[in-house]
Amino acid sequence: MNFTEEVIKYKTKKNAVILAHYYQVPEIQDIADYVGDSLGLSQRAKEVKTNLIVFAGVHFMAETAKMLSPETKVVLPDLEARCSLAESCPLDKFVEFKAKYSDHIVISYINTTAAIKTETDVVCTSGNAIQIVESFPKDQKIIFAPDKNLGGYINSVTGRNMVLWDGICEVHDILSTEAIFKMKTENPDAMLVAHPECNAPVLELADYIGSTTGMLKYTEKSEAEKFIVASETGILHQMKLSSPAKQFLVVPSDENCSCNDCPYMKLNTMEKLYFALRDEKPEIVLDDDIIEKAKKPIERMLDISKRLNLI
Ligand code: 13P
Ligand code: SF4
Repeated sequence: MNFTEEVIKYKTKKNAVILAHYYQVPEIQDIADYVGDSLGLSQRAKEVKTNLIVFAGVHFMAETAKMLSPETKVVLPDLEARCSLAESCPLDKFVEFKAKYSDHIVISYINTTAAIKTETDVVCTSGNAIQIVESFPKDQKIIFAPDKNLGGYINSVTGRNMVLWDGICEVHDILSTEAIFKMKTENPDAMLVAHPECNAPVLELADYIGSTTGMLKYTEKSEAEKFIVASETGILHQMKLSSPAKQFLVVPSDENCSCNDCPYMKLNTMEKLYFALRDEKPEIVLDDDIIEKAKKPIERMLDISKRLNLI
């Protein structure tokens, strides 16, 4: 069976919408109705007019879509596609941590479970994190969770002193500065673009730091012809499509590996997407009270982003 053709057929028949993150394999990105970063995907999920969203991404992204479009059935091709960063912040430990800083507000990165979002004042994504933090007065005390790399980066840019939860993305945190030095030496004309989930030594070397959409736009607009990309391999697909004459090199995790794929994102395959669309499962199911509480900080983020013309 040609799963791609079947997915296209079923999508039309069921009037379903496929939302895909940039870290999906190219063939899934190519048949999606929308491909984007977490901010763009949340916005789409809120606006979508359909009875069925098939989310080609990780669990927290599909959960966010469900919260923003609660009447819509949301399916994720593989429920095991969970994000290591979101999983690094369990609810019980976070509640204990938060209790130590009772005069702080909580800003959490969207890469969290719905449960953590119920303990959050405002959500942010890598596409708006600095602006969301700066929308609060300078003396506002803030807990930032769960990514200590993104939090540290925001602290360094804004001069804040947010308390950071000790979490990391297991894909971005291991990207190696040694490999970058070597690549820069071999490609002195290349610009380094990095996702803010990378560790501080990598970020210090970057010419541009931003979300997946931010990095993509930077490579489109820049006059440079060669880019070293410190992120997950999937993003290269759209970069190559939108700038076919430019060259893109992905930063390996270490000297022996050039395969920094997110193992969770890559659990989604065209075959699983076909079954998810055909059988309308596995479905993301959330209690109404969780949706009610967890969507508030996401909607706050979208309101601030609209006010600041970021979306
Ligand atoms: P973006 O919102 O920048 O696409 O990042 C999501 C993510 O999980 C990166 O690892
Ligand atoms: Fe999560 Fe990292 Fe995968 Fe992004 S790349 S989904 S942060 S594990």
